[in-house]
Amino acid sequence: MLDFAIRVARDAGRILSDRFGTRIDISHKGAINLVTDVDLASERLIRDLIADHYPRHEVLAEEGGLGEMRSEYRWIIDPLDGTTNYAHGYPVFCVSIALEYRGETLLGVVYDPCRDELFTAERGAGAALNHKPIRVSETSDLMQSLLSTGFPYDIKTARLTNLDHWSNFAMNAQALRRDGAAALDMCYVACGRFDGFWELNLSAWDMAAGALIVREAGGRVSDFSGNEFSHYKPEVIASNGLIHAPMIEVLAMSESRKQQGL
Ligand code: IPD
Ligand code: CA
Ligand code: CA
Repeated sequence: MLDFAIRVARDAGRILSDRFGTRIDISHKGAINLVTDVDLASERLIRDLIADHYPRHEVLAEEGGLGEMRSEYRWIIDPLDGTTNYAHGYPVFCVSIALEYRGETLLGVVYDPCRDELFTAERGAGAALNHKPIRVSETSDLMQSLLSTGFPYDIKTARLTNLDHWSNFAMNAQALRRDGAAALDMCYVACGRFDGFWELNLSAWDMAAGALIVREAGGRVSDFSGNEFSHYKPEVIASNGLIHAPMIEVLAMSESRKQQGL
């Protein structure tokens, strides 16, 4: 099934790279939340391939939601993670595919067609970049860490916006990045390019594959309080493990979280 997922991610990635920089149809799901005809074409292809090979499996994908089939196997798909980047011609985006069995993630594949980088993991079998094993970084000092995050699409109206976390981390880390594709952010933690990542209000399709890849690369994934991670819950910290506790401390500084009793 990992080989199948890799094939599907590469095929979908080809759609993204073929259409990149050409005329695309853009519509709005919200004030700043875009969807393009390329998101839809990529998702169509992935759903069709799964339906051909595993017709009884369940599919949860960003644009079409949960399909009609019910099964203990669930494919969780982001057909284009980084849509805003894509629509602006900023070459940071990917396809993310995970497979869950009875609620446990069995495998994750994230493919970046711009760099031809394929991140993969199988539960209990480690993580890889282009089929070579990867490991998280060894940075143990938050002040020496490169961190990444993102901002939710409801930033203009939500009470919890991530802006206070951003400024708290800016004062407590070496540097921060906001690259605009959460699945790739997590893979960059897995291969040691980033030391840590945090975000709120993500969805299962943004995190399912990336979280397994981080864990299988020796990293740690939790919610903002250090509790067990679920890709169905909105908070995620993914780190090399060594800076996890200090990241939790910085997240606890947030005044807006305290006001919400979190
Ligand atoms: C978005 C990206 C972004 C994150 C957003 C996500 P999309 O996914 O992963 O980095 O900050 O919260 O929704 O919409 O490009 O698939
Ligand atoms: Ca996404
Ligand atoms: Ca998407």
